[in-house]
This record gives sequence, structure tokens and C-alpha cells, in this order.
Amino acid sequence: MKKAIKTEIIRVNSKRPDYGIIEKASKLICSGEIVAFPTETVYGLGANALDSSSVTKIYKIKGRPSDNPLIVHVADMDTLKKLVMEIPPGAKGIINKFWPGPITLVLKKSEIVPHITTGGLSTIAVRMPRNNVVLALIKMSGLPIAAPSANISGRPSPTKAKHVKDDLNGKIKLILDGGSTEIGIESTVIDMTQDTPVILRPGGISKELIEDEIGKVHFHNSLLGSDLSKNKINKSPGMKYRHYSPNAQVILVEGPTNTAKNKIIELTQRLKRENKKVCIMTTSKSLKINAVKIQYMGKTFDTIARNLFANLREADDNNIDIILVQGIQYKKTGFAIMNRLRKAANTSIRV
Ligand code: TXA
Ligand code: MG
Repeated sequence: MKKAIKTEIIRVNSKRPDYGIIEKASKLICSGEIVAFPTETVYGLGANALDSSSVTKIYKIKGRPSDNPLIVHVADMDTLKKLVMEIPPGAKGIINKFWPGPITLVLKKSEIVPHITTGGLSTIAVRMPRNNVVLALIKMSGLPIAAPSANISGRPSPTKAKHVKDDLNGKIKLILDGGSTEIGIESTVIDMTQDTPVILRPGGISKELIEDEIGKVHFHNSLLGSDLSKNKINKSPGMKYRHYSPNAQVILVEGPTNTAKNKIIELTQRLKRENKKVCIMTTSKSLKINAVKIQYMGKTFDTIARNLFANLREADDNNIDIILVQGIQYKKTGFAIMNRLRKAANTSIRV
């Protein structure tokens, strides 16, 4: 068996990161190693995006299928220009308004980008993250950094260094611990190679906000309708795989607040009779049942998003068998939150 690597976790100030710590991480990236770091969305697992053998390590460590392309992170426009064939006007509009920030653009890739980074596609997904640790790391290493979320494939994305450690201890040399991430769900991925841009993955920037800036955009078909099945093929290849799943079974209950609450209470009582350890994730402070762990998800979309993956992972820390989640509204960032929950869920119930 391959000997485990010792994983070092270094605490770093996410506003003003220590030069020496970034230098250490940057040396690892430049020598073809993998480093985990915070971004404003979730923690990333980074490597030199221009080096095939470094990028190959990411797929291996995550157990990620090789047709699922990575997002490339940049810290300046000059690097972006080298990675893509062209920047259409809509893309410029998004960049001016939202970068650095949680939105990823799919553009036609240039020749310097290896195929392994883009999962064999002729397009590249690029974003400029809004976190000083990763920005400093990109700048110091002088390289674009390819980084998927720093979890084992299929698990909820990591929003704390502890989550990265839980999944990747012994597999990578360094985790930069910048505390809890600000947004909590991943960036929006939008295909800018179409006449009308298409959102492939809803995320930190809502469709409403994008349309305020550049006019009409579409959701990809697979994101719409009642059948948001996990196995449906999406143009964003990553979306077809099982995702965001804790060890516990997830049951999502959607419907008007009171009806959903009653259904959750009924299910809880039944599951308790079967001796299952149940946890409820809800936005209703009034939902109370004895002897069951209740995880209050928060009031605003921002808070719910920030706590979402941590809530799912915490259930595993508490050896929960079944998580009952109360659905929320499909508007603004709620759309992205529901997208994650539907993918995490083994069963969805509409009442
Ligand atoms: O917030 C984020 O985006 C985080 C942080 C670390 O930046 N990263 C992240 O990466 O979520 P990952 O690898 O977990 O998800 C990347 C998504 C996948 O759904 C993938 O299929 C899609 O982006 N993607 C990447 N390149 C693409 C391309 N050329 N065309 C279409 N979709 C692409
Ligand atoms: Mg991911």
C-alpha cells in the first residue's frame, strides 16, 4: 500500500495572509504538488492548470471521473486572455460586475490549456475568486490554478478546513485554513459561448442578478422542471454524477410551509419507531420535536447557503441515519440551494 502523506494544516488570515505561508504553498504548486485552500465559495483543491501531470493528481486524489472538467482560477485579466480564444461582450459585462466573485465563465479555450484540465472539451471554465488567500497564491505562483471543490467526489463540498481534512487527510501535503467560507455554495457556471448565455450550474450569483447586468440568460434544460434527476445528462459534465451526499440518507420535503412541516413530523415519528436516528434541517424555528436533532438552516438565502454543506456533514459527525430537509423557495440563491439539496437527496417528496 502507498504510504500516507503527512497532511499539514496551517491557519492563515483570510484578509491579510502571511507572506511566508503563501510562499510555502506557492512552492508546492510550482513543483507540481496539490494544495487545498479557501475561496469565497468552498475550499478548492488546486494545482498548476497548465501542467497535465499536476492536474492528473487532482482527479486521482478526489476519485473524480476524468471527463468532469475543472475550474481554472485566475487573479488578473492578462492571464485570462492567454487561456481563452475570445472574451465576448456578455462575458466582459459579467467580469466587470462580478469578478472577483462566485461566477465561472465557460469560454473557448486556447491551445496552452491541456485537455486534462478541461475534461477533453474545447472550452474552459474560468473564474477570479474573491478571497485573498487564493488570490495571493495565484499571484505568487504566477500560474492559473485548476481547482475543483476539495472533497472526495460525491461528498458535500467543504466549507471549513476540517471538512477537507475529513476527506483528504493523508492524501495531500498542505491545507490552508482560512476559516469558514463566506458564500458556502459553489460558483455559478455560465456558458458564454452561446448567443444567449446558458447557466449550467446555479450558484453564488443568481440568474436575476446576471440578467440585471447583461439581459436574458437561460437555465440549462436539465435544471428545470420537476425531474431534476441525478442521472440526467447536463452540458456541464459534473452535474450528472451523484453529488453533495453525506453518509446519512437525505429525504427532501417540498411544499407549503405548514404542510411540509406536518409531513416532516409524521415522517420523524415513523422513523423513530423504526429506531432510526433522525436529524431535521429546517427554516422554521417553530418546528420542534423531542429527542430529535433539529438543525436550523437560517432565515435568509445567504445564511442558508453558508451553512448548507456544514449542516449535511455535521449529521455524519453525529451518526445520523436519516436527514429530513424542508425545501425552500426556488428564487434567487434559493434556486442554487435547492439544486444542491435535490442532488444530495435520495428521495424527494412533494406535499
Ligand atoms: O466555487 C467553485 O466553483 C469551486 C471553487 C473551488 O472555486 N469549484 C468547484 O469546482 O465547484 P468543481 O470542479 O467542483 O465544479 C466544476 C463544475 C463542474 O460541474 C464541471 O462539470 C463544470 O464546472 N465545468 C468545468 N469546466 C467546464 C466546461 N468547460 N464546460 C462546462 N462545464 C464545465
Ligand atoms: Mg465539486
